[in-house]
This record gives sequence, C-alpha cells and structure tokens, in this order.
Amino acid sequence: CEKQNGQPSKQRLLVVANRLPVSAVRKGEDSWQLEISVGGLVSALLGVKEFDTRWIGWAGVNVSDEIGQRALTKALAEKRCIPVFLDEEIVHQYYNGYCNNILWPLFHYLGLPQEDRLATTRSFQSQFDAYKKANQMFADVVNQHYQEGDVVWCHDYHLMFLPKCLKDYNNEMKVGWFLHTPFPSSEIHRTLPSRSELLRSVLAADLVGFHTYDYARHFVSACTRILGLEGTPEGVEDQGKLTRVAAFPIGIDSDRFIRALELPQVQEHIKELKDRFAGRKLMLGVDRLDMIKGIPQKILAFEHFLEENPDWQDKVVLLQIAVPTRTDVPEYQRLTSQVHEIVGRINGRFGTLTAVPIHHLDRSLDFHALCALYAVTDVALVTSLRDGMNLVSYEFVACQASKKGVLILSEFAGAAQSLGAGAILVNPWNITEVAASIGYALNMPADEREKRHHHNFMHVTTHTSQEWAATFVSELNDTIVEAQLRTSK
Ligand code: G6P
Repeated sequence: CEKQNGQPSKQRLLVVANRLPVSAVRKGEDSWQLEISVGGLVSALLGVKEFDTRWIGWAGVNVSDEIGQRALTKALAEKRCIPVFLDEEIVHQYYNGYCNNILWPLFHYLGLPQEDRLATTRSFQSQFDAYKKANQMFADVVNQHYQEGDVVWCHDYHLMFLPKCLKDYNNEMKVGWFLHTPFPSSEIHRTLPSRSELLRSVLAADLVGFHTYDYARHFVSACTRILGLEGTPEGVEDQGKLTRVAAFPIGIDSDRFIRALELPQVQEHIKELKDRFAGRKLMLGVDRLDMIKGIPQKILAFEHFLEENPDWQDKVVLLQIAVPTRTDVPEYQRLTSQVHEIVGRINGRFGTLTAVPIHHLDRSLDFHALCALYAVTDVALVTSLRDGMNLVSYEFVACQASKKGVLILSEFAGAAQSLGAGAILVNPWNITEVAASIGYALNMPADEREKRHHHNFMHVTTHTSQEWAATFVSELNDTIVEAQLRTSK
C-alpha cells in the first residue's frame, strides 16, 4: 500500500450486495433519513479495521427523479455507501422474480415454481434477462468507483452474474464472491434453465466462498457435472485458470451481544420479561417470515408436544417473532396467512381465559429487546427446513451465559455443523421428533445444559464475524498473488 502522510494507506474494500446496510426514507424533495441496519454482514465488516470499506448496493427504495437520486447519493456518501438505482420494473423482475421466486427457493431445495408451467417458462426468461441487466447495473457502478488495487467482494445469490461483468470490464480486478445461502446438490442446480451461464459467471471470480464445506463441494460438483470442468482440492480449473473455492463459516460479533446484556435498559427488559412469564418456561423462535424457516412445522410440533404432554399445557409458552419479509412475493403472502391460521387454531384449542400457549408477533424487535428475550429464554427453536448458516442460533448462545438454555437446531441449517455438539439436532420435517426434543430440552438436567452451552459458547465467541471477513479478504489477496506467481513461471 502507498503511504499517505507517513502512514501506509489502507487497502480499499468494495463490498457489493443487493441491499445496502442502511434503510432510506424520503423526507422531502431533496432530503432523506437514513438508518443503519446492523445485520450479520454489517457487523462483520465493522470489525475489520485493516480495510477502507465502502458499500455498493440498492437502497431498497424506488427513486425515479434526479433531485431525489442526487440527494440520496450525497446522504449515503456520508455513510460510505454508494447506491445502485433500480426502477420498479427491474425490482419486480429481478428481485421479487428471479432472486426471490426462483433462486431462493431452488437453493433451499424447494424446487422451481411449479404452477402454470408455460407462464413460468415465459416469465422465467424475462426475469433472467432482468437479473442480468440488474447485475450489469451493479457492475457499472462498481466500475465507476473502482481504483487500481481495490478488492471487490460480491455477496449472495442476487449477484451471481456480477463477477463476470466485472472481469469483462477489467480482468485485473480482484473479485471475490460469497454465497450466504446453501448451494444445493448439483442434481437440484441442474434443473435451473440458466444453470451453466450462472456457474460460468461465478467462476470468473478469483475466490468463491460458502458457509460450509458441503456447499463448496456441491458447487464444485455442479461445475464438473454440468460444465465438464475439472474439480481439484483447490477449486475448479478451466483451461489452466483456477477459481479457488473454499468454506468460510460466518459468525457474529459476540461481544456486542454480551456487552448489551449489561446495559440498564436491557436489564430492565429482562426483569419485565421474567415477571411477565413467571411460572412458565419460555420457548423462543426468531425468524424472518420465510418458507425456508419452517415456522408452520415448528408450531405444529409444539402443538403435538402439548397434545402428548397435558401436564405442560399451562406451564410453557412459545414466543414466535416472525419478521415480515419480501411481502410483494405471493408465496410469502400465502405463508403469512397459513401461519396465522395455525396459531389461531392452536391458541383456540389450548388457550385459557388468562393465557395462550403461542405468542406470535409479525414484527421485528429492537436490538436491546431481542438480547433481553434471548437471555430469559429456556429453549430456542431454530427449525429451518434449509438455511445457509442461521445466526439466530449464535445470537441465542451468546446471550445465555447465565441461564444456559437449550438450543434445538435443524440439521439442515449450516450452523448444525458448528453448534451440533451442543445443540439438540432435529429433522424439522419430523414433527414427532421435534415434539420429543422439546420435552427432552424442557426436562434437561442442569449439568447437561451447562456442558452443551459451554461447547457452543466457546465456538460462538471464538469464531466471530470479524474473523470471518478478515480471513476471506486476506485469502482473496493471497489467491491473486499465487495466480500471478503461477503465470510468471
Ligand atoms: C438472506 C439473504 C440476504 C438478504 C436477507 C434479507 O439472509 O442471504 O442476502 O439480504 O435474507 O432478505 P431481503 O430480501 O429483505 O434482502
């Protein structure tokens, strides 16, 4: 790195993701209110101090006028964010359509949309075209801001076409791509009409990362079986060019959660919650209201537990926080109604004049309320049907230092590979098994809880999000140096 004022300047890191880490609300013709949303990726990168980080992405709002665009660009610049402006039609076809109605369910083993095959096939092509167009728009913005020596880190299934667009602009760009969802078995991936084009464009990256070794293996198999390329222990080779493929399991900023528990307002929340649920065990679910999270299956398993264990009926409560998401996609609208119907039926069946067994909230909680809730929970239920990693399980563990509650965790979440020894692993489709695990968790002796918690707490506090981000970026830098050495031989 070149020196500036005697100090070595930091390497610039351009993080490209569909969504910027801020939400924007328009307050006037040329004024915007911005709020930082501290998700997994944001907290991961906040902790990486050795890079000069900038974000490039969609601000989540449609801004069609120039005054609004200019004002938003200026406001975002103060947060080191650079917007990509997508119009309503593109958002509909690219984000609601190709990303969330095709790739998302497919990568979580829910298959391609099946109703009205003909219409789907026709709209499939236009959605894929919009996907490519949107990826090109991201590439244009990256290219405008790129400076020699920058590292460009592309994120997630929204931007699988981006590595190729970037390399077409400039083959010298250092490009990494990371997938936050599972990468499915090649047998699932091969059903996708645009399977080869997407694989080839991801392979244009220098380093391709996944949360687990299995996802990386599936990706390499898809490249060998579908594209006929050679898979090596390092990655995928195509005519002498190696794309490195590896697993980089993400974590959380565990200190942020642990510190929050000491705050007076969180202690106050904890006290209120303890009073509110006194005399009952508290079970907790925190999920985006998404079909991959297995919320209906979880609630049905809880119902089965209540049926089988009448003694517990007024001694346990399930609090399900279901954060609304992608509400323009019909599949998500159907899921919301389905969950409400099941919750209503079970509360009607097991409720009393003074208490109901399920508290279901269709909203998010602020960070402090969430920490308090994690801290007072006896049993957390993370029963995703598939999940890239699932950081709710990590957050729960980080907040349980004093209570040592039990984590019931789906074997189909990436987190099962890291927290499996401390959690009770379940197949979320097997409602009888999940119901039995609820019983086991509620009755678990203190020494077993302590042992299981200790295992998970050690993992969560040592495999942090900061370490994840720093490892990926330094590996990307190394990969490029190795490639240069190979070509100079
Ligand atoms: C998943 C994806 C993220 C996405 C998040 C929220 O975790 O991997 O890329 O940002 O869901 O979904 P949304 O569609 O609201 O961005």
